[in-house]
Amino acid sequence: MTKKIIVLVSGSGSNLQAIIDECQKMPKEIEIDLVLSNKPSAFALVRAREAKIPVMALPHTDYQDRKEYDEQLAKVFEEYNPDYILLAGFMRILTADIVESWHNKIINIHPSLLPAFKGLDTHARAIEAGVRFAGCTIHFVRSDVDCGPIIIQSAVPIQEDDTKDSLAERVLLEEHKCYRQLVRWIADDAIFIDEHDKVIIDDAEFSPYALANPMIGEI
Ligand code: GRF
Repeated sequence: MTKKIIVLVSGSGSNLQAIIDECQKMPKEIEIDLVLSNKPSAFALVRAREAKIPVMALPHTDYQDRKEYDEQLAKVFEEYNPDYILLAGFMRILTADIVESWHNKIINIHPSLLPAFKGLDTHARAIEAGVRFAGCTIHFVRSDVDCGPIIIQSAVPIQEDDTKDSLAERVLLEEHKCYRQLVRWIADDAIFIDEHDKVIIDDAEFSPYALANPMIGEI
């Protein structure tokens, strides 16, 4: 059965591009039915159009508040009825109602090794804190921001001369690798959540526990 996904974006869409590229390798197993942005000018929508994927701009400025916006977003989700909704640089916080209605269907990427450095400016804060590793996390969304069962992470060593921008550049490459791996796991129906709300990956070749840093090197 072809898995159907929707991708929500707000910016340049480099994570979206990684998702598109990986889905195009397995057209029978997985398809992107819609790319939706709260920013009509997001370059991510250009990437989707180039890939002949339906797009929708849903400007949050057209709505009174988060509740009203998410009610409209929920109508879109119901219409498309995706297996998963991937947030790829989507810069809006979803309200508890929509997160709960789509429990364990909404997945997000965050540019830190959660639960460390929730929120914004993660790379600057990591450098400031003197930690030795930054990285990214793909997780199921819960009503609390940047929380939820972790699916995959990739750690990126912080170098002495790193700036937030040089670090962000290296982490972004790992984000793309992580999202490509996630797409493959969705296509293979390999993602489960156990009774302790922990993610189990059914993949003989690649387990997130297999390596200290599963994403170093090519996957
Ligand atoms: C990524 O760093 C992501 O972690 C953060 O916003 C950025 C999105 O980049 N949420 P892009 O739009 O996917 O290029």
